[in-house]
Amino acid sequence: MSQQIDQVRAVIWQEGELKLLDQRLLPLQQRYIACEDVMAVADGIRDMVVRGAPAIGVAAGYGVAIAVAACYKANPNGWRQALEADLTRLAEARPTAVNLCWAIKRMRAVITTLEGDPRQAVIDEACRIDAEDLAANHRMGELGAALIEQRCALMTHCNAGALATAGYGTALGVIRAAHAADKVSQVYADETRPWMQGSRLTAWELLQDGIPVTLLADGAAAHLMKQGEVKWLIVGADRIAANGDVANKIGTYHAAISARHHGVKVMVVAPTSTIDMSLETGEQIPLEVRSEEELLAFNGQQVAASGAKAWNPVFDVTPAGLVDAIVTERGVVLQPNMEKMAVLMAG
Ligand code: MRU
Repeated sequence: MSQQIDQVRAVIWQEGELKLLDQRLLPLQQRYIACEDVMAVADGIRDMVVRGAPAIGVAAGYGVAIAVAACYKANPNGWRQALEADLTRLAEARPTAVNLCWAIKRMRAVITTLEGDPRQAVIDEACRIDAEDLAANHRMGELGAALIEQRCALMTHCNAGALATAGYGTALGVIRAAHAADKVSQVYADETRPWMQGSRLTAWELLQDGIPVTLLADGAAAHLMKQGEVKWLIVGADRIAANGDVANKIGTYHAAISARHHGVKVMVVAPTSTIDMSLETGEQIPLEVRSEEELLAFNGQQVAASGAKAWNPVFDVTPAGLVDAIVTERGVVLQPNMEKMAVLMAG
């Protein structure tokens, strides 16, 4: 059932060229940006052309392949040394989504084994990261949808869909699979301020595939949950600590607290590339704070009182105790904790 086609691709590798769908322009325009060098990839990640933890990882894999090709062309004997600055630049593009450093680490592991012309081997590895992410999403879609026992309304926050991954999506993959199994009476999506990933991206992506969606202001989530129609809050993650604490888009924590208060279950859907076993708890996850301007202005227009300051953390941490299930491609962890996460990752 979860094998239904999804239309949207955020990252495309075609005939040796990397194209990123410029998500800043959605839903009004669909335009791809061709990335000719690694700087363009790093800038595209930092500036939100490509966003969503797994998509950032996939783009970074291709970014490394582009960097290797350029460094090898410039200096076939000393390309490895020249590459280091590029890898650092890529790794620093955004701090929270661990998939970025995970993908660079994986590319680096291949690079250290190479002799001679490295170019094809790094492209092959980047393509594997891409294909594995897509396969993981289909698997998680099946596993997550199986947890939904009866036809009900689902709620999601931010965009954890095809746009945020190699395709199909994590949270939206579960919603796609549940919808295909006729288990969904309604999908509710938070607007997700200030970048509006819910209204601009999630709504657009679901409608591309014929899945109806109802938007709500972020502040309406508790009131919606109180009505009793929503049975699951389903979200993605940018980084999950060893104890199961989940960093995700700002507002996830708030929605999870409301969910627990109203008896709505919380499902976090993320590939194991999002799990960072080196951090014991979510307190150690670096949380990105972006510019004040993102709150003070909208589309270049001032929306706040002149002179007001703004605080713009773009991720928060939901404690594992508020999470009912973490769904990964390796399996489901119910009521996550340190021991259960270790068993999952050891397997
Ligand atoms: O700032 P963004 O748009 O990159 O934030 C994205 C999210 O928080 C997603 O929920 C998360 O990366 C999971 S995407 C499958």
